[in-house]
Amino acid sequence: GSCCKLAPSILNADLSNLAAECQKLMEAGSDYLHLDVMDGHFVPNLTFGHPVVKCLRPKLPDVFFEMHMMVADPEKWIEGMADAGADMYTFHYEATKDPAGCIRKIREAGMKAGMGINPPTDVEVVLPFIDLLDCVLIMTVNPGFGGQKFMSDCLPKIEFLRQKYKHLDIGVDGGVGPKTIQECADVGANLIVSGSALVQHENPKLCITQMRNIINA
Ligand code: DX5
Ligand code: ZN
Repeated sequence: GSCCKLAPSILNADLSNLAAECQKLMEAGSDYLHLDVMDGHFVPNLTFGHPVVKCLRPKLPDVFFEMHMMVADPEKWIEGMADAGADMYTFHYEATKDPAGCIRKIREAGMKAGMGINPPTDVEVVLPFIDLLDCVLIMTVNPGFGGQKFMSDCLPKIEFLRQKYKHLDIGVDGGVGPKTIQECADVGANLIVSGSALVQHENPKLCITQMRNIINA
């Protein structure tokens, strides 16, 4: 697959200091930011929406923002996120009756389109949309919280997609860190999202270097 990129998920960062935390994580060597948006309906937790992104964008003008939209009715927030300056909009297959329509709207709004699937969801559901998508995000935890246990039984989904699509951007999200990144790289994930393992590390730069050494080995 294409080269590996690493992104912190800032869900468990100090959200009272989000711009500084993001700056620190980019300086530590991250390639882009993975921003978790939760609405308390699609997942049993609540985070933030486009108003926060709008304030964050001018402070991180050159940073790629992936919005991980763990929300019901993902179509509803496309315009707001595009106007706020989001670069990629990753919605969940399970959250909409019209994935193709959602992807079209995301593209029309000028963002890249990602599709996420939860651990219980079969990977085959993404196949009809592959040609429309910029990325498929394979969850290795049930979404809603950081710091959960990595679910390695989701890895065959990544392997299945990588064997079929050599150049597809395949993301992995949930419980990923220095201890679990090897198996993610082995099956072909090339967009690595790391939350608490990275964000709560006392030396994020070292943690990123460790993970890069593993994926580039
Ligand atoms: C979970 C989020 C993930 C999570 C990753 O619903 O989508 O991005 O924050 O954090 P860790 O790596 O701690 O599982
Ligand atoms: Zn996420």
